[in-house]
Parts: sequence; C-alpha cells; structure tokens
Amino acid sequence: MGTHANHELNSYFTVDFGLILQGKPLPYSIYVNSSKHESRDRFVKIVGQDEVLNSDLIEGFKKYHRVYVLETERNQYLRSLVDATHAPDIERVSVIKDSAIKYLDDIFDPSKEFNTEILGDAIEGCHESMQSMVGVIKDYDINNLKKLIGDLSFHDFYTYDHSINVSMYTVMILKAYKPQSKNEDLVTAGLGGLLHDLGKIKIPTDILNNTGKLSDEAFDVIKTHPELGAKLFDESAPDLPGADSSAIRRVILEHHENWDGTGYPNKLKEKEHHLFSRVCSIADFFDAITTKRSYSDVMSIEDALVVMERTASKKIDPDIFKFFVEKVSKAVLNGKASIELPEDFDTERAHKVLPLRKVKPKKISSDFTKAEGPSKKKAA
Ligand SMILES: [Fe+2]
Ligand SMILES: [Fe+2]
Repeated sequence: MGTHANHELNSYFTVDFGLILQGKPLPYSIYVNSSKHESRDRFVKIVGQDEVLNSDLIEGFKKYHRVYVLETERNQYLRSLVDATHAPDIERVSVIKDSAIKYLDDIFDPSKEFNTEILGDAIEGCHESMQSMVGVIKDYDINNLKKLIGDLSFHDFYTYDHSINVSMYTVMILKAYKPQSKNEDLVTAGLGGLLHDLGKIKIPTDILNNTGKLSDEAFDVIKTHPELGAKLFDESAPDLPGADSSAIRRVILEHHENWDGTGYPNKLKEKEHHLFSRVCSIADFFDAITTKRSYSDVMSIEDALVVMERTASKKIDPDIFKFFVEKVSKAVLNGKASIELPEDFDTERAHKVLPLRKVKPKKISSDFTKAEGPSKKKAA
C-alpha cells in the first residue's frame, strides 16, 4: 500500500463477533471499545495475534457482539474469513462485499480525492477482497450464487453492486468452464470483473445517469470506457502478487467485444479476446438482465438464459455459455422469455430497455463501511 494509507494507523473497523476466526491462531488482534461515551473511544485488546479463540474464550467474549480490528490488519482479517467456516456464507460474503465497496468507493466516488496512487491502492484492496471472495464462493452454481447475491444488501443499483456481482459470476463461470483453474486464475478473472467498468469514472455523470433516451453521441462517449479503463489501470500500476495484471487489463479493455466481431473498441472476434474477457462478457450480460438496477425489476434466471441462448455465437462465446447453462439446476430451466431484447442490446443500456418498477434499496447491515464514514474511529 502507498504512503497515504498511513493515516489509517490506529483506526479500527468493527465486525460481528460471530465472524471472528475460531480454533486457529488469529492472524490479527481483536479489541473492544470499553468507553461508555460516543466521543471518547477507548479500545482495549482482548485477544492478541496468534492466540487461538477456544470455546472458553468464545463463551467469555460472546457478550461483546461487536468487536474491533485495526484497519492496518484488515487484509489479514479478510483472508481469515475463508477459514471462518462456522459462520454462514451470507455473513462472510457481506463483509467481503462491504470491504470491496469501501475500495470501489475510493475509485468511483467523484467527491473523493483521486490520483493514480490512490487508484493503485484501491485496486490492491480490491485484490485482497477478491482473494477472500474466491475462497468462499468458488464452488457455487448459478442458482445458489443468484440467491446469495439477492440476499446481500445492495447499495447503489449500479456501480458497486454491478461490479461485485459481475466479479462473482465471472469466478463461477470460469470455474464451471475450467474446473481445474488455479486460484490465481479465479482471482485474476474475478478482479477483472470487479474492475471491468473502471473507465466509467472518466465518463461525465450526466451521461451515465441519464435515464431517458440516450443520443448516439452520448452512447459513443460511453463506449470509450473500456479504453479509458485500460489506460487508468496502466497509470495506477497496482502491485498484485500472484495475479496476472495483463489479463486484468484485457478484461477491462475487451469486455464489450462480441464473439462475432461486432463489439467495441477493437471488433475482436472469437478467441481473439482473452478467455477471461469472454467469461466477463457473459457475467456482465447475465447481471445486466437479471439484477435490479436503476430501480427496475428484471428477468428470471430461466428467461435470461433463453434470451442469452439466442445471442450465443453472436455476442457471447457459445462454448463457455454451454458450461454456464449446465451450472443451472434443471428445475429452473423452462423459461418463456417474454421479454425480447433489441438486436442492438448493450449491457450498458440494459436499464433503458427493460421494464421499470420501483424498488427500495435494502439497508447495509454490516458496520464495515460505516467505520470509513465521518465518525471514523480513532484510538483514544
Ligand atoms: Fe462496460
Ligand atoms: Fe458492466
């Protein structure tokens, strides 16, 4: 991490006691806030690094419900979630998601300070989040993953949720297509998915948030985001040990290329675009038509697959798509696909062509992101 992270020394984030690793040496210390006053925090260490939380300690500490971990030990905490198998997946994944949101927010929030060093740090944080995510979800099938994603609290309908969903589907699809994939490949592809729309930070928000009809000129601007994203990725030069940076860059650049060579920016055909880019395109497509966004309600899995089937070998890699479909339980495979997608369907415009119905965002349940807000906890 770069130097600007130093201000995070002695700041804490809070986690549910149930999401602390048990029965193995802790790779981080845990603290409680012993102060009764909101304005005067006093953090006391209750379990140190390398100690093991055994059943006696667990009994004694259960009363705390929420505990604190040093911000500087966030990555160790995230990694440990993979082994915290006593906790339900939904809880572990929501903490990982909140952590990814924290980093995506550093990237996408226009009111935050931005430079390539901050971007590099945020991408490195995304990498950490992705490593934990892969550990928890890599053996999911579509139905379970769709349900898990539906059960997670959602945040903004587009940037963060979409990026995170696409990363999760990308991991799942790659694992279905190539079951022997190494962990690093799954993390690399997932990180490509998480960052695929990175270039959108350079697209004016009035164009991105335009919910009305989009002019061809405005859409041409949106179409520049793959190249803008690849450039930003190069400039930020993140240090991603074990991951393949050039493959991530290609996912960012190539995720709107089509199998038949009609995509953008380079009209690549078939296997000219990277395997992970082709996988990400399917994930992007699937999330665009099955996930609520822009307050819209969208397709069932079965309808989505029927619609996607029609465009396999035009827009998406038909071979990978076959494996994707095989990861759906047969019980849901009788879609009627009442919704026709237009010939020029583009995932960037999904919310403009799908029927709209208002829905309310769910509340974010974990304090992970709150610790980053204005009331950021500092050591007493
Ligand atoms: Fe995109
Ligand atoms: Fe996308």
